[in-house]
Formats: sequence, structure tokens, C-alpha cells
Amino acid sequence: MPCTDPSLDTSSPPKRNPSPYSNVTKTGIKVIIVGAGFGGLCAAIECHRQGHNVEIYEKFEELKVLGDIISFGANAGRTFRRWKTCDGERASDRLSPLSIKLQDHGFNIHKWTGELVMNQKTPPANPEAPVFNGHRGEFHSVVFNYVKDELGIPIHLGQRIEEYFETATEAGLSFNDGSFVTADVVIGADGVRSKARELVLGYEDKPKSSGYAVFRAWFPSTDMLADPETRRFCENGDTFNGWIGPDVHFLFSTIKNGTDCCWVLTHRDSHDIEESWSFPGRLEDVYKVFEGWDPLCKRIVSKTPEDKLVDWKLVYRDPLPQWVSDGGRTVLLGDSAHPFLPTSAQGATQALEDGVTIAICLRSAGKDRVQSATRAFQEIRYDRVRDVQKTGETTRDLWHKADWDKVAENPESIAFPREDWIHGHDAEAHAEGLIQAVLTQLTNGKHPESKAPREFKETPIGKATLEPVTSY
Ligand SMILES: Cc1cc2nc3c(=O)[nH]c(=O)nc-3n(C[C@H](O)[C@H](O)[C@H](O)COP(=O)(O)OP(=O)(O)OC[C@H]3O[C@@H](n4cnc5c(N)ncnc54)[C@H](O)[C@@H]3O)c2cc1C
Ligand SMILES: *[C@@H]1O[C@H](CO)[C@@H](O)[C@H](O)[C@H]1NC(C)=O
Repeated sequence: MPCTDPSLDTSSPPKRNPSPYSNVTKTGIKVIIVGAGFGGLCAAIECHRQGHNVEIYEKFEELKVLGDIISFGANAGRTFRRWKTCDGERASDRLSPLSIKLQDHGFNIHKWTGELVMNQKTPPANPEAPVFNGHRGEFHSVVFNYVKDELGIPIHLGQRIEEYFETATEAGLSFNDGSFVTADVVIGADGVRSKARELVLGYEDKPKSSGYAVFRAWFPSTDMLADPETRRFCENGDTFNGWIGPDVHFLFSTIKNGTDCCWVLTHRDSHDIEESWSFPGRLEDVYKVFEGWDPLCKRIVSKTPEDKLVDWKLVYRDPLPQWVSDGGRTVLLGDSAHPFLPTSAQGATQALEDGVTIAICLRSAGKDRVQSATRAFQEIRYDRVRDVQKTGETTRDLWHKADWDKVAENPESIAFPREDWIHGHDAEAHAEGLIQAVLTQLTNGKHPESKAPREFKETPIGKATLEPVTSY
């Protein structure tokens, strides 16, 4: 890693340079985060930047490069750009080489029958707020290693957290062996199938069928380059093409100077029940969706190694009534609070905005007012998240229910919406600007501080003989 000094003496661990944030004033607030996805990792980085003492618990045993295409909008790029590395760079410098470059070609939008409807130009790059589209696992490795190796934030792997608890003065996690850990606040960044959500809501919130599923794949461009019909998508750098039909859309991009390919096909599916990234898909099912379509679509998809094909059932959740437990010390963040449809292209970005915001709320409120901080976090984020979530449906419907006669008159109407209120947002400046007013409002009784915590399940907690598994 860039900041470690691999000592010649292999018997002692390599020395680590101090975190680039080691000089920030400490708040004394202890934060436990469950989940090392983008939401949890970002919250950890931001809490560390704001001077909190933070640790992560994650169920996976080791880091694996999983998933395929993921989008980070300019509103996430601002955040990545602020993260200093210990070799004097920025985290964004490491994501850039892994990211799709569309300055030359833009986004070609076709009708499903093959006609090119429009070319949507890529906006000029804003160095303050870069956009990143690339492999979820590759981006994830960059951020994960930054947290672990450069910031030195403890990440406890192989810890599947099922039990949360909360008292008036602490929140915590308990483990199967009866041990437990506590903190001032617990952040449940444990994804769409969150267990933390049960404590926060007081009931299990079941996902609903969205009526759609997505076939998706990511693989090397070798066969694409060998075919004269498809070579052009890879041989001159990255390209991005979409075909839009009734209730279906197909997006195909090439990445890393055309050396990798990725496609997603969103289509009707009534069998969706599970939220998972890992169902294997079958090419013959994909071909069925393409009957009557531009033959190029089938040709592109036919290059996919079948073991790289995933069938991902898209489920939906209504907005949760609250992200913060009644006691105020357990808070949901990222997908656990608000899963997004892929057509918003904002799921991971909104998880990042959450992390930025909660860290600022905690610092501003201080250790004695953690419950106000979590409520302020919800107050600042809730409406914006719901509005951005909605764009997942509106963009999907814009495409799936397109009136092609109207589109012929106004081709721009089919462009992927890039709205400034979403992409131009600076979560850090926004939270810093609002937090004092929101805290004052909360103190003035909208949500009284004295609200009694909901009774929590009696787990081994409280047995004073048990030792926490970590000390702090
Ligand atoms: C394996 C995987 C692949 C994905 N691939 C893509 C993709 O290709 N494209 C895309 O747009 N989005 C993908 N996503 C989703 C995307 O990462 C999220 O929508 C977004 O980044 C918000 O992140 P999050 O941190 O809130 O949730 P997630 O990314 O889901 O992270 C949640 C984390 O919590 C951990 N966790 C869950 N339950 C527990 C528990 N009980 N105890 C401890 N830890 C727990 C999970 O292992 C995971 O690391 C993927 C998610 C995962 C987990
Ligand atoms: C991109 O690939 C082309 C060949 O396909 C090559 O000529 C060019 O040098 C590559 N560019 C970079 C930056 O690697």
C-alpha cells in the first residue's frame, strides 16, 4: 500500500504512516458501523475526518471483487476528492483510471428496433466534482483498502451481526458467544436486507416486488474485439450505448479503454422476491427478451461467458417511516435506510451523502447530544433522499413508456436526465450550513430529547461479568 513501509524484518508487521487526519480534534464520540459497503466505509471515513473514534463490523470474511457496473455521480465525486491519502493524493485519483471515459463518444440512445435516436454528450469534466462509473468491486477495493491501510480504521471481518441493543446511554452489538460491544451510536449500514432495520422500526419490513428484474454481466472484451460487427465498441476507447423498448431497456458499455464490457438488461419479471446479486442467469432467457429487437443486441450479449451472467430480481421498498431508533442511538444509512432503483444511478452516491452528513451532525451536536445528532441527520437527509429515489421510477417510465412519435419530434426528451439539484449538491456544505438551525429546532421541542427509548430485547447484555470483545 502506498503509505506502508514494508519492513525487511517480516516477523514484525509493516509500519504504517499516521493517517492524514491524525491531527484533527477528537470529539470523544465512539461510533460502531455495521457493514463495509460504500455506505459503511464512507461513514467511517467521514467520522474519522470529523474526529470520532470509529470501528466497522462486516460479515464477509475477506474482501472479494464482487458486482459489476456502479455509478457515482458528481455529488459523490466531490466527496471522493476530499479524501486525502497519505502520499499526498486524493482517493478520487485512484478511482479515475478504473472509470469509464465518455468524453469522446457520449451516450448513444437507440430505439429497440435499432434506429439511433440521439447522442447525449458527456458534460465537460468538472475537476471539483468528478463522475465515476466502473466496476463495483474494483472501486470497493480502493475505498476498503484506504480505510483499512491508510486511515487505520479497524474493520472486524467475519462478524455477522444479528443482535442490536440500546440503552439510554449506549448502543451496541451482541455476539453469539455472549460477548458485546458498545458505543455512543451504532450505524446500521448493512444493506438492503438490514437487520439493524428491525431494531429501528420495531418490525420486519419485507421487500415488495417491483415487477422488474435485471440481467447483468461484466467480462473482458476479447470476443467482442474478434467480431467485426462489435469491434467498434471497444477498439477506440470506451463507448456507451442504450436500446429502449416497451418495458425493457438494454445498456451496454465498454470500460478501461475498451478492454472490459458490461451490459444490463432491465425487463418485466413477476417472480421477484429475493434481493441478491448472485442468481446465475441463462443466455437463452436473455435472447427471449430480445425477440423482434435490433439483432445487434443479441450479438453483443452472445459474447458473454454464461458464468458471468447474473439474474438480479429487483425488489422495492416504500420509504421507511424513520431511520433512527426511538432511543436515538441506532441509525440506518445507505441501502438499509433507502434502497434505490438502478435507473436513478444514485444508490451508492446517496449512501455517501449519508456518511458525510451523519459525521457532521455528530461533531456539531457533541457527545452529550448524540440523539439529537441522529435525528438531525434524518431531518437533513430524508426529503432529499425520497426525491432522488423517485427519479429511479420516473427515468424508468420515461424510457419504458416512451411515445416514439413524440420522441421523433423531440429526441432530447429521451436523454438520461442529469439534474443539477442532484448532481450539483455538496453534502458537506449543505450539512454544515443547516446543522445548527436543525439542532436548535430539535431542542425547541419538535422531537423532545427526553423521549424514552423503546424497550429493547433482553439479550446477554446487562450481565456485568461479560467482557466486550474490543476495548476503547
Ligand atoms: C456483493 C454486492 C455486489 C453489488 N453489486 C452492485 C453492482 O454491481 N452495481 C450496483 O449498482 N450496486 C451493487 N451493489 C449495491 C451497492 O453496493 C449499494 O447499493 C450501494 O453501494 C449502497 O451501499 P451500502 O453500503 O448501503 O450497502 P451494501 O453495498 O449492500 O453493503 C452492505 C454491507 O453490509 C454487510 N452486511 C450485511 N448484513 C450484515 C450483517 N448482518 N452483519 C455484518 N455485515 C453485514 C454486507 O456484507 C455488505 O458489505 C452490490 C452490493 C453487494 C453487497
Ligand atoms: C487504448 O487502446 C488503443 C488500442 O485499442 C491504444 O492504441 C491506446 O494507446 C490505448 N490508450 C491508452 C491510454 O491506453
